[in-house]
Amino acid sequence: MPDRTPITLTTGQEAGLTEQPAPPCAMVIFGASGDLTRRLLVPALYNLACDRLLPRRFGVVGLALDELSTERFRDKLSSDIRQYSTRKQFDEAVWDDLVRRFHYLAGRFDDPAVFDRLRGLLARLDAEWQTDGNVLYYCATPPEVFGLIAEQIDRAGGTRSERGWRRIIVEKPFGHDLVSAVELNRRLLRHWTEAQVYRIDHYLGKETIQNLLAFRFSNGIFEPLWNKSHVDHIQMTVAEVVGVEGRGRYYDRAGVLRDVVQNHMFQMLAYLCMEPPTSFRPDAIRNEKAKVLEAVRIMRPEDVTSHTVRGQYGPGRRANGVDAVGYLKERGVDPNSQTETFTALKLFVDDWRWEGVPIYLRSGKALWRRGTEILIQFKKAPEVIFRELPGIPWLDSNQLVFHIQPDQGIELRFQAKTPGPSMQLQKVNMRFDYREAFEAARATGYEVMLYNCMLGDQMLFSRSDLVETAWRIAQPILDVWAASPPGDFPNYPAGSWGPKAAFDLIERDGRKWLEVVNRGVIETVPLFQECDEIFQHKLALVLKPVVAAADELIIRKGDRGNEMYFLVRGAVDVVGGDGRVITTLGPGSFFGETSLLLSEPRNASIRATTYCELFVLDKADFNRVLRDHPQFARSILDACRRRYRVTVDPDQAFDRQVRLLIE
Ligand code: NDP
Ligand code: BG6
Repeated sequence: MPDRTPITLTTGQEAGLTEQPAPPCAMVIFGASGDLTRRLLVPALYNLACDRLLPRRFGVVGLALDELSTERFRDKLSSDIRQYSTRKQFDEAVWDDLVRRFHYLAGRFDDPAVFDRLRGLLARLDAEWQTDGNVLYYCATPPEVFGLIAEQIDRAGGTRSERGWRRIIVEKPFGHDLVSAVELNRRLLRHWTEAQVYRIDHYLGKETIQNLLAFRFSNGIFEPLWNKSHVDHIQMTVAEVVGVEGRGRYYDRAGVLRDVVQNHMFQMLAYLCMEPPTSFRPDAIRNEKAKVLEAVRIMRPEDVTSHTVRGQYGPGRRANGVDAVGYLKERGVDPNSQTETFTALKLFVDDWRWEGVPIYLRSGKALWRRGTEILIQFKKAPEVIFRELPGIPWLDSNQLVFHIQPDQGIELRFQAKTPGPSMQLQKVNMRFDYREAFEAARATGYEVMLYNCMLGDQMLFSRSDLVETAWRIAQPILDVWAASPPGDFPNYPAGSWGPKAAFDLIERDGRKWLEVVNRGVIETVPLFQECDEIFQHKLALVLKPVVAAADELIIRKGDRGNEMYFLVRGAVDVVGGDGRVITTLGPGSFFGETSLLLSEPRNASIRATTYCELFVLDKADFNRVLRDHPQFARSILDACRRRYRVTVDPDQAFDRQVRLLIE
């Protein structure tokens, strides 16, 4: 039985308050009619109420432009919560108790009278709900008005009180670039102290991100390996299926580097690469995060050219088969926009622990799958012991994979001996899955942020220096990109694996992106559809996704064959020695198997006629797969016979070939 003792990382523990309701307070939501409030904040408050973590003495004021009565506001919230609640069952009693605490105030943020009225309303709420004078302000508004709101609250005397605390949560994006982030910090800190300001990054609210710290610092076995002596490289991927989903106006000014990399991904990087803190106190952690971000090498213009890739999606087809428009046709986007919706970067952290270890990041919208993962690839074991054994051409590296979302778990990939009389190795994995180990209701990620802010715990929030340091890393990239327009946009179809250049970036270094290949993706290849679950699982570990640009030569006639290919998207021409196209292959087909089977040079060239996505199976894995799955081997041999008229009796040939291959 898994141990179900709840572990809470956040430092409510310090005050002995873990699993206790937060202290009494009033909350003010600026932007109460917006998407964030509706989809995430109110459901998070409701989840906290269900878990009895919301203060018992609590009231909310929602502020927005619309002229609404409090009654009407509550009605809207009551209908929205039914759509956006993350819980399986809806608890009417909890909601009724929560919604009666909401009040509404209409007005513009540039109108000082609104803030005077707010002050009066908060005094009434304090009397009604006995909130002890504590107020949490939440800026769920467009970023342009964060500074204005912070000033207006101060002008109306709302930043300080003899009774109770005053705190302000500021949403992302925190600034548009380094200069504006410094200016926003300056503006905020003119009216508030650093201890009152909570800069939010919702990634830090995710359980799997918080677990990075638990994993690293509560287990003895990994920390000694967590350095340049043992780690070959690190990868992080934040892949999204969605496009800009109606947020074109905001997104077109931002792009993925500002929207996801500068904040969410740099925060993950900090957790992953920081030195062990001396305690879980907020500043102990934040100091270590700041140190590691400060050690990230700032790119020179020439590094930006060689270490970064940007992409923009064109029209395509989503994973669910639905046609998708290109970015330039999205609502709110400039039809000539050069904003990037995809990026891949290679960074270095120049400190004692990580010097020389490449850290590859990539993120994009409108990709083939949703998935956030972190890979730690360890250095290989020496191959000397296995050198003379047939069938073991090389060893694979050990990989530790953090599945952040939507899968939530941790996976260790290593090699094991396959059963049988000879020494053969196969890649296998051990996996910890959150769903199997813990019983937890699905959350929005904002619960822990709100709860910690109410407790006065800043650990999960960014400090002014951290935000500025993150911008310092991103700024030179933004500058070079602004000065040199891309020229090849759009460079990946919606629903695809991303631009080819992103694959080149890592493959130039002799490495490959980790792709989480799941069953759905494997089954896009008809040959794999009939395979049983164990076989599909094995394939998921050994298939390597690659992309080829239109016109690229994938196989050259006469070359030695070291791998075979399965075509997932696109089309290729099979070209004979005389340069004539013998046939054209489309999605679901495979090629390159004959020269592996017969150990002969490639008998034709293969050229991509469009952008192509392919799975590659290398020779050693091919041999293992044939050996262990005769049914599959038979299908391959059959196809090979049909295609190239290799006149062999499948049964005998299969045995002979496989024996040959193993030998
Ligand atoms: P919306 O545009 O949906 O909502 C903005 C809100 O602010 C509305 O209530 C709007 O009122 C109000 N508002 C805007 N300007 C004024 C003004 N001058 N005076 C009074 N009220 C004003 O934005 P989102 O909710 O999507 O985003 C809010 C913030 O949260 C942004 O900073 C965003 O980056 C961040 N965020 C959002 C996420 C999301 O999923 N939505 C995720 C992560 C962060 P009205 O409707 O009456 O115009
Ligand atoms: C937000 C970005 O901060 O993060 C969005 O503005 C992005 O563009 C989102 O889609 C991703 O968050 P999550 O939690 O879905 O990974």
